[in-house]
Amino acid sequence: MNMLKILVLMHEDLVPPDSMKGFADKEIVEWKTEYDVVSSLKAMGHEVQPVGVFDDLGAIRRAIQEFEPDIAFNILEEFHGNSLYDYHVASYLELLKLPYTGCNPRGLMIAHDKALSKKLFTFHRISTPKFIVFPMGEKIKIPKSIRYPLIIKSLVEEGSYGLSQASVVNTQDKMIERIEYLHSKLNTHVLAEEYIEGREIYISIIGNSRLQTFPLIELEFGEMPDDAHKIATSKVKWDWRYQKQHKINLVAASNLDAKLIKKLYSVGKRIYKILGLSGYARIDLRLTEDNAIYVLEANANPDIGYGEETSTAADLSGLNYEQLLQKIINLGLSYKPETARI
Ligand SMILES: Nc1ncnc2c1ncn2[C@@H]1O[C@H](COP(=O)(O)OP(=O)(O)O)[C@@H](O)[C@H]1O
Ligand SMILES: [Mg+2]
Repeated sequence: MNMLKILVLMHEDLVPPDSMKGFADKEIVEWKTEYDVVSSLKAMGHEVQPVGVFDDLGAIRRAIQEFEPDIAFNILEEFHGNSLYDYHVASYLELLKLPYTGCNPRGLMIAHDKALSKKLFTFHRISTPKFIVFPMGEKIKIPKSIRYPLIIKSLVEEGSYGLSQASVVNTQDKMIERIEYLHSKLNTHVLAEEYIEGREIYISIIGNSRLQTFPLIELEFGEMPDDAHKIATSKVKWDWRYQKQHKINLVAASNLDAKLIKKLYSVGKRIYKILGLSGYARIDLRLTEDNAIYVLEANANPDIGYGEETSTAADLSGLNYEQLLQKIINLGLSYKPETARI
């Protein structure tokens, strides 16, 4: 394998220590992805330099000048504390002509806006829950025709941020309360969406023009209380103790017939193309009892930590973590920004 000089771009607060020893789960969960990527790239024999970024593009520019990397491994998810700025950073790398891993700026921007992506899904007859956007700073007007239950979430945040059991609402009062809460807590526009009862399935896809799908993953809700909504709240996603306690696990999706599996892969790949994604991505969807597919969102640059959805899916296809990272690097090296889809 060719040894490469790899700059790993990450948030400055998440630059990982050399070892996990002595840290509590609550601390590790914050920078585990950064740790997994940096330590694995080193173990693979690459020369690795982590760069922490907050609001200074100069840090990236200086690191490129001094270290002269072959590629940037991009796991930076925000700039200036704003997760919508992630695509500007990818644009900056393109302008500097440095190859980078993951999605191109345009794909990042479109996938990040859940309402915009859902409009594109609808145009292409891919079903997605009906929705309304409640912009910040505007009076909340609830249409009379609205049907409950609804789920209230941020238009742009990721990683189940702001999602709890209280996100599913059955009355207008609860709905307004939750919208106001998210406006003030997350400082983003809010999406109210038809709540879809069903299984939670993830499709992991990797590639630039030729796409490869990994086996379908399901989030199993194990032994959550009967009256709890089976959704990926932030507790379900990030609290390792809670996951163990309630037997919440990422598993290979089983009991899906061959025709349905084919349909799911086809929907996933169409979405990847429709949104113009590159590198690697994960499509989140709900599958109802009668096997209707409702796409929730597409994640460009999904969490690439070991044991998260993408690496679990890759593992099931026989690709171990290091092989997955290497594939992502190779895709970054071969991506040609000037041929980005329009
Ligand atoms: N319309 C919906 N119906 C049912 N569950 C939903 C719906 N929207 C979101 N969820 C639940 O909330 C989780 C997070 O929502 P998602 O839109 O994927 O946001 P995030 O970007 O935080 O992952 C989903 O994985 C799912 O469990
Ligand atoms: Mg999601």
